[in-house]
Amino acid sequence: MSQKFSTKIIACSFARPDAYGAIGFPVYRNAAFEFADSESIAAAFQYRHDLHTYSRISNPTVSHLEAKIKAASGAEYVMALASGMAAISDTFFTIACAGSNIVSSPHLFGNTFALFASTLPAFGVEVRFVNTDNPDEIAAAIDENTCAFYSELITNPHLEIADLPKISQILKEKHVPMVIDSTVVPWCGYDARACGIDIEVISATKYISGGATSIGGAIVDYGTFDWKNNRKLQQIPKPKGMSRFAFKLKSEIARNTGACMAPDTAFLQALGMETLQLRYERMSQTAYRLAEYISQHEKVAKVNYPELAGNPYREISDRMFVAHPGAMFTVSLENKEACYRFMDRLQIIRRATNLFDNKTLVIHPESTIYGTFSKENKALTGIEPALLRFSAGLEDFEDLRDDIHQALNE
Ligand SMILES: Cc1ncc(COP(=O)(O)O)c(C=O)c1O
Repeated sequence: MSQKFSTKIIACSFARPDAYGAIGFPVYRNAAFEFADSESIAAAFQYRHDLHTYSRISNPTVSHLEAKIKAASGAEYVMALASGMAAISDTFFTIACAGSNIVSSPHLFGNTFALFASTLPAFGVEVRFVNTDNPDEIAAAIDENTCAFYSELITNPHLEIADLPKISQILKEKHVPMVIDSTVVPWCGYDARACGIDIEVISATKYISGGATSIGGAIVDYGTFDWKNNRKLQQIPKPKGMSRFAFKLKSEIARNTGACMAPDTAFLQALGMETLQLRYERMSQTAYRLAEYISQHEKVAKVNYPELAGNPYREISDRMFVAHPGAMFTVSLENKEACYRFMDRLQIIRRATNLFDNKTLVIHPESTIYGTFSKENKALTGIEPALLRFSAGLEDFEDLRDDIHQALNE
């Protein structure tokens, strides 16, 4: 019997029954696992069975979270990692090498931009920034060394939406995988396979963690891409039950970079997964209502939320997303000083970086997330000094509305 989204996550059972019949998966905090004899520990190291040996490589509590993410996404393979940035960097350590290039939007979360503009180029990986609204520009940037097309599902904080089903046709013709940072919308809000996504990278710190309980990340592989043309993966014979990508990631990259998720984090995030849909639906509805309310205010120059009337991405948003497209929106005031004055008057909404906490958050991206960027990189990322980013939380709409009202009108 096919199950719906939240049931699949909550009903996701343990790989082995718990000795005490615990209803939630226990936290296995230990670093190492012992074996009855030398033959079985050797077999575990040689992948002849899937028992855990050492928690940097795999851990039962982390595997349980991965099983829940697999159930929610319908993916072929999932790996949970220490952070969203670990998920992004381990993905490119797996598929890129010196001489490879990545075709990407320049409108990215700040650390991803810095990874692409500085960290990866130091290892000989080129990043070609393109306007993802223009499929011809994407097609022209791709060559035989392109290891991926990369974009955020809804860009943070620009709220641009690349037309993924359309871009996917180009990528399929050119045999290039689509790697998407889907942090801002969980799987109940869109259909990754219909968008043509091959690999997702996620900051699990956001929705998955259940209210900013912990830092975490995930790589989700739909098993849809044939890696035989990838320079780094083509030598690997196709493994059974997983892609060449997943095999390389699991057997080499993740263990060598060591950015494993802690078992305590996996416990918190597995619990967070169980309320994911509830929180997402409430937060995105509040975001829409707040964005609509603020857009009526005379002191506000612009409100950006894809579902608002007149938004250039509304048609794509309606096609790609179920109901409201996420809980992030931005507001532009007169200038930076007006933003600071407004922020400092808020009483319920918190001044903090992060997204999809249970608390509503606001930040001034230009002076914080992008604050240390060079002039050139600031220009490339296009973050305006008059812009504020909001992440709607779970408070009651009326209280958030009144907080914004008093901060704008004082
Ligand atoms: C879209 C996006 N991707 C990735 C990250 C990085 O995630 P983490 O902080 O878990 O490393 C963030 C963090 O804010 C983000 O907003």
